[in-house]
Amino acid sequence: MIVGIVGSGAMGSGIAQVIATAGNQVYLLDTNADALARAKQSIKASLEKLIAKEKISADRAAEISGNINLTQEYQQFGKCDLVLEAIVEDLEVKQQVFRELELIVPAGCILASNTSSLSIASIASACKKPERFIGIHFFNPAPIMQLVEIIPAVQTREGLAEEIKELVKSWGKVPVLAKDTPGFIVNRVARPFYGEAIRILEEGIADAATIDWAMTALGGFRMGPFTLMDFIGHDVNYRVTESVFASFFYDPRYKPSFTQKRLFEAGYYGRKSGRGFYNYGDGAPQPEP
Ligand code: NAI
Repeated sequence: MIVGIVGSGAMGSGIAQVIATAGNQVYLLDTNADALARAKQSIKASLEKLIAKEKISADRAAEISGNINLTQEYQQFGKCDLVLEAIVEDLEVKQQVFRELELIVPAGCILASNTSSLSIASIASACKKPERFIGIHFFNPAPIMQLVEIIPAVQTREGLAEEIKELVKSWGKVPVLAKDTPGFIVNRVARPFYGEAIRILEEGIADAATIDWAMTALGGFRMGPFTLMDFIGHDVNYRVTESVFASFFYDPRYKPSFTQKRLFEAGYYGRKSGRGFYNYGDGAPQPEP
C-alpha cells in the first residue's frame, strides 16, 4: 500500500513511522523544508531508541526509514491508496489541502484527516468525492500510543469505516469507532481535564508542578495536565479547545482560558518551543512522555 501524509510535524512524522513499520511505502510531505529535516531527525532518533532497547535491529531500522520518502511535491501522491492529513488545526487550510489533493490522487484513493476537533463532515465538504473521506485520529506520540479513533462523516460511504478499522489493526494499533462530534471521545473527555487544571492554577489553589505531581504520583495518571499540554503544544491544544467550545455552541464547560491563550499568543508552545507552563531551556528538567 502507498500512503501519503501531509504535514511532517509531531503527528505526521510519528504516523509515517507507524505506517512504514507495517511495511508500507510512505510519502511524507511538508511545505516547510525545516519541518521535513526535523521529521527525518525525529524518526531517526525514535528508531535509534528502539535499537538501543533491542526492540529492532539496525537492518530493520534501515528498512523502516527506507520506506519513508520525504517530499515537498504534491505530485508524489499520484499513486497513493490513502492520503492522511496532519497539518495545522484550521478548517480552511485543511479544506484547501484536500481541494488540491483531489486534483492529484487516484480516483480510488481514500482521504483522511488526523484532526483532533474539527468536524469531519466540514472538511469532507471541500471534496468533490466526500464519500471517500474519513477521520483517522492518532494520539501523540503515534509510535507509542495504541489507540486510533476512526470517525466516519455523514458523507462517508458505507463500509469504509470497517475497512479502515482493519487497516489500523494491520498497522499494529487499536481502532475505536467514534461519531463525528467535537473532540470525538478522548479530546472531549480531556477538555475539562485541562480546563479544570488551569482553573485551579488561576485560582491560586496549587501551582502547575503540584497539580501534575498530585495527578501522577497520587492520581495514577501517566502525565499531569500541564506536562501533557506542554507536550501536545499550546498552538495545537489551544486551537482544539477553541474549536470544541465553538462547536458545542459555546457551552461554558469547554470555555478556553486566557492563561493558555496568552501562552499561545506569546509563542510559548511548550516543549517544541522551549517554554510553556514549564521552562525547557538548558538545565531545566525535561518531563518524559
Ligand atoms: P505540528 O505543528 O507539529 O505540525 C504541522 C505541520 O504541518 C508543520 O510541519 C507545518 O509545516 C505543516 N503544514 C502546515 N500547513 C501545511 C500545508 N498547507 N501543507 C503542508 N504542510 C503544512 O502539528 P501536530 O501536532 O503534528 O498536529 C497536526 C494535526 O494533528 C492537527 O490537526 C492536530 O489537531 C492533530 N493532532 C495533534 C496531536 C498532538 O498531540 N499534537 C494529537 C492528535 C492529533
